Amino acid sequence: MRLFGGRGNLVGLDIGSSAVKLVRLREAAGSWELLAFSLGQLPPDAIVEGRVMNFTAVIERIRELVREAGVGGVETALAISGSSVIIKKLSLPEMTRAELDESIMWEAEQYIPFDIKDVNVDAQILNPRAGQGQMDVLMVAAKKDVVSEYVSVAVEAGLRPVVVDVSIFAALNMFEVNYSVPADQTLACLNVGASSINVGVLSGGMVAFTRDIASGGAVLTAEIQKHFNVSYEEAEAFKTGAESSLSSSTVAREVARISERVCDQMVTEVQRSLDFFVATSIKADIGRIFLTGGSAQLPALIRALERRMEVPVELVNPFRNIAVDARRFDIDLLQRAAPVAGVAVGLALRRFGDGA
Ligand SMILES: Nc1ncnc2c1ncn2[C@@H]1O[C@H](COP(=O)(O)OP(=O)(O)OP(=O)(O)O)[C@@H](O)[C@H]1O
Ligand SMILES: [Mg+2]
Repeated sequence: MRLFGGRGNLVGLDIGSSAVKLVRLREAAGSWELLAFSLGQLPPDAIVEGRVMNFTAVIERIRELVREAGVGGVETALAISGSSVIIKKLSLPEMTRAELDESIMWEAEQYIPFDIKDVNVDAQILNPRAGQGQMDVLMVAAKKDVVSEYVSVAVEAGLRPVVVDVSIFAALNMFEVNYSVPADQTLACLNVGASSINVGVLSGGMVAFTRDIASGGAVLTAEIQKHFNVSYEEAEAFKTGAESSLSSSTVAREVARISERVCDQMVTEVQRSLDFFVATSIKADIGRIFLTGGSAQLPALIRALERRMEVPVELVNPFRNIAVDARRFDIDLLQRAAPVAGVAVGLALRRFGDGA
């Protein structure tokens, strides 16, 4: 007997620039179980700067995952990120949800550098009584053409998208389900992908800051490609340390040196964002950094973050609080793929009827 969610949870589909990830979970009696996890690589030019360039390749890949997971026609949550999304914390006079829905477009207009007609706007009340008759609201605006691009590839691949989330919110959602954080702690969560680093700060259990940085592991792949004059696939193998690909220890040393330099640049960007957050918020020193995303596995990145931010850095396990049946999944394989699953798990935690 299933107690909750007769209609099941949403399929979480994370369309990243280097790989598509699909996760399905089941909730029973307040705990979670993994039903499906599939991962499919994309060619490097299929998605560029958050825009779908090669529709055929992306649709084909998602279709394979849908087939593998047996989720054709299932309601799905997607995520977008990057410059097509504007997130802003607003302080507004206390009002009801209905009043907020009515006024948010008008409020949003002044923060959006695009025509208001070209964006979908949504708002979440963070704190209904922030004091002095004000409330804290998180406003999210997303460019309609980008949303419809992602929705249409999912539809073409046989899914039924019903929620469009923001990557960093999905990552934070995944984090909160897996880790309990003392309410008074401020922490940063970074989703380090191939071409973006999504930065989120949680403070007092609420989203305090978000920022998307246009950098990631693909920068390192490109540098390795250039340095050794090798293909994208070879450079990826060099980077991830597939042992047979590192023909000599000299090559390994060179890769490590390039990695140090590129990771240092990435951390400079992250530090700039987090410094900005600290400088503009009242009660916040970041106490810890949690990482998800494929490039979070770069040892040089973790080292540089620890050294420069002077806080403990930890890789998140998105399946920490999710039951996995060892008869259905290769646990070793799953744990190795876990870093790339963060956003997809966060999306799969969404219930139908959650606000977008
Ligand atoms: N073991 C590893 N060590 C270092 N980097 C890795 C490892 N495994 C994967 N990566 C890198 O992680 C990246 C893929 O991670 P992820 O799937 O999170 O990115 P994405 O979602 O496709 O990208 P984005 O969200 O930026 O569009 C690739 O750049 C890949 O080379
Ligand atoms: Mg990603």
